[in-house]
Amino acid sequence: MSGPIPGPADHLLPLRNEFRSAWSRFATGVTVITTVEPDGAVHGMTANGVTSVSLSPPLALACVGHERNTHALIRSSKKFGISILSAGQQTVAAHFALPPERRNPASQFEFVHLNSVPVLKGALAAMDCRVVAAHEAGDHTIFIAEVERIEVTDGDPLLWFAGEFAYLAGRSGAAGGRQARGRRRGS
Ligand SMILES: Cc1cc2nc3c(=O)[nH]c(=O)nc-3n(C[C@H](O)[C@H](O)[C@H](O)COP(=O)(O)O)c2cc1C
Repeated sequence: MSGPIPGPADHLLPLRNEFRSAWSRFATGVTVITTVEPDGAVHGMTANGVTSVSLSPPLALACVGHERNTHALIRSSKKFGISILSAGQQTVAAHFALPPERRNPASQFEFVHLNSVPVLKGALAAMDCRVVAAHEAGDHTIFIAEVERIEVTDGDPLLWFAGEFAYLAGRSGAAGGRQARGRRRGS
């Protein structure tokens, strides 16, 4: 036999594609995780690997890739904000899904302080979170955090489905009452 010896993960490649494809069918809301950089600047990262964990005490989790800037910022500050985006905030989501060097520096977004971490103005809901546990899981860390402040408003959510932004059907959001899809973006 000749040829390259397969790497340990090569046999998992087809599964990896199917894994991505399967999870792209899982419709989610869209959030922006906010942290504060050492110079005080707000850092944002679009995320849907976010969920509630416990009501008493109120716990939420965020899965953050080890290579994300947000990962190091949460590790050091032990704090983050979660802003659940509204249907009108697709531009915000697209902006914070790009690596910082590819973000348009002219794009400005308004933040408000809930407690210790800034969150996005105009979000459907926002939470101020203090990390109480961090679990390494593959190439991500699951940050579990106690939610210390919450703000909720009414409105329609921004959704993510099959690699595109989407809107609730039959609601009055940016889709004008019909389901609509946003710009495609590989992630
Ligand atoms: C809809 C959507 C959801 C995402 N969810 C996550 C997520 O849960 N965790 C994560 O680490 N990256 C997620 N990303 C990718 C990050 O937003 C992207 O890598 C971003 O550039 C990271 O920024 P940072 O490195 O400055 O923190 C998502 C991207 C999109 C478009």
